[in-house]
Amino acid sequence: MVKIIGIVGSPRTDGNTAFLVETALKSAEEVGAETEIINLGSASLEPCVACDICKATGECAIYDDMGEIMEKIMEADGMIIGSPVYFGSVTSQLKMFIDRSRPLRGSFRLRNKVGGALAVGASRNGGQESTIATIHDFLLIHDAIIVGDGAPMAHYGGTGVGGPKGSTEQDDVGIATSQNLGKRVAELAALIN
Ligand SMILES: Cc1cc2nc3c(=O)[nH]c(=O)nc-3n(C[C@H](O)[C@H](O)[C@H](O)COP(=O)(O)O)c2cc1C
Repeated sequence: MVKIIGIVGSPRTDGNTAFLVETALKSAEEVGAETEIINLGSASLEPCVACDICKATGECAIYDDMGEIMEKIMEADGMIIGSPVYFGSVTSQLKMFIDRSRPLRGSFRLRNKVGGALAVGASRNGGQESTIATIHDFLLIHDAIIVGDGAPMAHYGGTGVGGPKGSTEQDDVGIATSQNLGKRVAELAALIN
């Protein structure tokens, strides 16, 4: 059985991003994956300080929740990473996660993990694609394998609309693209493992 981790990049642990990541994970479970969700909004995370100790040792010199998060993503076969759109890009919480993952990059410890992205903005064209592109950059730089949301949508991943908490539950496109994304990530992870 493959393991797929969902990462919620919102400070709101019960907001729209959490809803869509949970939606994607349910879909991954339906095709046989085991799943786990990580909420960065309730994690203790510091930004990278460019001490470069990870370049010498492969370990991060900051001791917070990122150590455990890195263990979990290394053990998983795939990742579904979600962020609200903040000024056309990812949240600070998700960017801290991205930058702090540098210790894993030295020996490409995320190589060949399957990854997919989803984003939620208050507007339909509020920057979901640029936010997803930032997450895709993270996956590419780690030598992971990126999937989109497959047929019948076949684009970049989950793209949701919503402002207040709960509003994305009315967003059929956000739900369908997130479901498709979860299925694609789990199916490809199973195929290559
Ligand atoms: C600081 C900030 C910046 C935002 N910038 C954008 C934006 O550029 N485009 C957009 O469509 N929505 C923007 N939003 C709205 C959020 O993306 C939207 O409310 C989203 O559903 C929040 O997800 P969450 O419920 O998971 O926190 C912004 C919200 C905040 C707090």
